[in-house]
Amino acid sequence: MDILADRLDLATKQRLVDEASPWHHSIDLGDGVVTPGGKTLHHHHDELLRMRLPPLAGKSVLDIGAWDGYYTFMAEGAAASRVVALDHYAWSVDYKKATDYAERERVAGRPIRAFHTVPGLWDPVGLPGKRGFDVASRALNSRAEVIVADFMTMDLAALGTFDVVFFLGVVYHLEEPLRALRRVRQVTRGFAVIESEAVSVPGPFWKFAGHAQVNHDPTIWWVPTVEGLRDMCLAAGFADVVVTAGPPQTEEPTHYRIVVHAMP
Ligand SMILES: C[S@@+](CC[C@H](N)C(=O)[O-])C[C@H]1O[C@@H](n2cnc3c(N)ncnc32)[C@H](O)[C@@H]1O
Repeated sequence: MDILADRLDLATKQRLVDEASPWHHSIDLGDGVVTPGGKTLHHHHDELLRMRLPPLAGKSVLDIGAWDGYYTFMAEGAAASRVVALDHYAWSVDYKKATDYAERERVAGRPIRAFHTVPGLWDPVGLPGKRGFDVASRALNSRAEVIVADFMTMDLAALGTFDVVFFLGVVYHLEEPLRALRRVRQVTRGFAVIESEAVSVPGPFWKFAGHAQVNHDPTIWWVPTVEGLRDMCLAAGFADVVVTAGPPQTEEPTHYRIVVHAMP
């Protein structure tokens, strides 16, 4: 297909971006159009610095939990040879309705339930939460492969292995983090970049964070310490773990975002 023939004009691009709202990722789609994600371009820039990625050119990259796809499209832009975007949860949620629901419950002082348990918010067939990814993919003429699947239950043999695996902001959403990291190990040929909410108390712990304790998010279950994440990666079969963004220098226990590279 002639790529230029499929180029979106500015007005169409902006209209599609507006229609796909709300966005999780800010993504520069060119022509001055930046998607209005809660995760800003500045936030991505900072996260990329903390990820300390080597050049991705010629590498195969798997982005588990891709959502709107910022890191998928970043890897493509960095000339990765093959990029796969995998997700299912966020893609199945209608975030327009979910945002209204969460605000209603918050104002009423009621607990916010996980979105897939609330009638009307969950549509794994229509995939309303994937609209943003699809718009960005089209605007950027992406050739990334897309897999709609639950990483915890899908057939990993069919997925294969990758030079670089992004597991960014996903592990704390999973009820079984050790099993999840074992599965990440299974698909990792080079190294996995694991980014997570973390807590700075001493010791190899995973704090239970159910009941929407973190960010009012009812789908966050476990928050590790740096030692907890490192030890669990080793238990999951990784041979080496390098921390690229660790705890802040403070005596007070605090939450922060950790990044590690885990090597088989
Ligand atoms: C906090 S968001 C992180 C999005 C993106 N990776 C980032 O760092 O900006 C968590 C993502 O993990 C995805 N996710 C959660 N559980 C998953 C599962 N079992 N299989 C695949 N994706 C999952 C969610 O749908 C969501 O897109």
